[in-house]
Amino acid sequence: CGIVGFYGKHSAKDIILEGLSALEYRGYDSSGIAVIDEHEDLKCIKEKGRLKVLEETVQESGLDGHIGIGHTRWATHGVPSKENAHPHLNSEGTIAVVHNGIIENYLELKHELIEKGYIFVSDTDTEVVAHLIDLYDEGDFESAVYKTLDRLKGAYALGIISSKYPDTLIATRKESPLVVGVKGNEYVIASDIPALLGFTRDVYYMDNNEVIIAQKGQLRIQDLEGNVVSKTLTHIDWDTEAASKNGYSHFMMKEIYDQPTAIRETLCRRLDEKRHIQLDDIKLQKEDLDELNKIYIVACGTAYHAGLVGKYAIEKLARIPVEVDIASEFRYSDPFVDDKTLLIVVSQSGETADTLAALKEAKRKGARVLAITNVVGSSVAREADDLFYTWAGPEIAVASTKAYTAQLVAFYMLALHFANTKGTITDQEYVAYVDAIEGLGNKVEEILSQKETIEAVAKILVEATSAFYLGRGLDYTTAMEAALKLKEISYLHTEAFAAGELKHGTIALIEEGTPVLAIVTQERLAEKMISNMKEVKARGAYVIAIAKEGTPHIGHVADKIIEVPAVCDILMPILSVIPTQLLAYYTSTLKGLDVDKPRNLAKSVTVE
Ligand code: G6P
Repeated sequence: CGIVGFYGKHSAKDIILEGLSALEYRGYDSSGIAVIDEHEDLKCIKEKGRLKVLEETVQESGLDGHIGIGHTRWATHGVPSKENAHPHLNSEGTIAVVHNGIIENYLELKHELIEKGYIFVSDTDTEVVAHLIDLYDEGDFESAVYKTLDRLKGAYALGIISSKYPDTLIATRKESPLVVGVKGNEYVIASDIPALLGFTRDVYYMDNNEVIIAQKGQLRIQDLEGNVVSKTLTHIDWDTEAASKNGYSHFMMKEIYDQPTAIRETLCRRLDEKRHIQLDDIKLQKEDLDELNKIYIVACGTAYHAGLVGKYAIEKLARIPVEVDIASEFRYSDPFVDDKTLLIVVSQSGETADTLAALKEAKRKGARVLAITNVVGSSVAREADDLFYTWAGPEIAVASTKAYTAQLVAFYMLALHFANTKGTITDQEYVAYVDAIEGLGNKVEEILSQKETIEAVAKILVEATSAFYLGRGLDYTTAMEAALKLKEISYLHTEAFAAGELKHGTIALIEEGTPVLAIVTQERLAEKMISNMKEVKARGAYVIAIAKEGTPHIGHVADKIIEVPAVCDILMPILSVIPTQLLAYYTSTLKGLDVDKPRNLAKSVTVE
């Protein structure tokens, strides 16, 4: 979900709607806005569906004011509906609350409030907050909010207004992101930076348990004891243009084309004059690395797939054992983690709730934490001991592309840095890898220039009812990422299999014409892959190979071949994933689907 709030002289409606549209990638099943109008009345409008539905209703209604809050929702408690959309109000309609996160003890609070006579109109956890503030309001807004916060368990970023206090906006956070933008005596609160870039570039990053009070033209930031907290303003120098589509019809396509630059930026800006990798935010020394007995890589979704490649790179180059786990599994698995473990968390947004929880669990057990993230100042970044920012720029499309390839570059660079520090590779090897990574951007461009060939293959997938990706070794990790990409945006049922495992069951699903996409880039495994392709072809599969150029015999078995330029096997995942991103993109657009905002998915999952 995304939240925005405004306090100032401008039209709250305009600034909130603009902010919400920049946050739509955080959730978009319903949205709403509440303002205090010129008569000091609270007015609220909510709509189910995309933000444009809300925009139309708001414009027609004439609703406006100089103080207000808004929300775009991704359902957790309660189905997407107008009733469950935020803001949530108290029964008198004087208090409005927007919330991002989960109030874990809401059922207990709801029962207590119902016993006191409060009537609930939604299924959400958030509604308890509005009623609690009402319950505790004895003529002091701030103290009513503080008493409410004292009762809440869970994760939240909250924006609150009340028509009884028409000159006050209160906001707070615990475990959910929140920033405040400042321009003179006007303030915008938001769950994410893009929401306020249209208004200001000067922001405060809020920490847990801090409360913002905008009142009488002033902003106060307090802790839970009511002490004023002094904070430093950060100037955001992102290019707003970088967050817009740049002439492409979808963010996803723009982001696919951003990859050569993202790959180069992530590497080249960290090379010194001797072409050595300099990682300023990584404080791990040789002694720390020698002490380690294990690395855990933990992440969700696409970032998890990057971690699988990371394991391979770190083990091969730096000779440190690595385990990879899904964050939601790791946090409850009582993992073998201690002060000799390095936990690497990978998160594009830096806000994924499960990843953050896994990070905290590992820290509690004494692990050192290194974060690979794309968002500067994100929660994951702030909790970590060591940091690697992927300089991929904002990623808006729900399906991750450039963040993934930048994460792979990050892992290669980390693996090389560790290997160099530990002395597990020679200087010559080090230099050769750095050169090879530097050349990847151009090779990605070569693949992008074959987009028509790839679009033609997508036409085959459009007709299919299910598809399979096969690979061995590193190609299997790419197969997993490729299958996720294809299913999440084209809704085509797709599975990834380790090619050797197929005959142990799944081959039964292959019928006449079933598309099987074989990724063949690992030289020592190519022959084995070709045997597996023959097995499925003999059962009627339509075989599409995504193969390293020059792979022998592939033409005899594949019905279609998409060639990718050659680089050393370990770096091939960066190249082989590119055609799979384009295949997913074209399959989705050919089906007329909403590529950037696939159904049921959110860009940033800040709830468990
Ligand atoms: C969501 C997104 C995925 C992403 C995953 C992890 O599910 O739709 O694209 O890979 O979250 O996100 P993170 O921001 O932690 O990388």
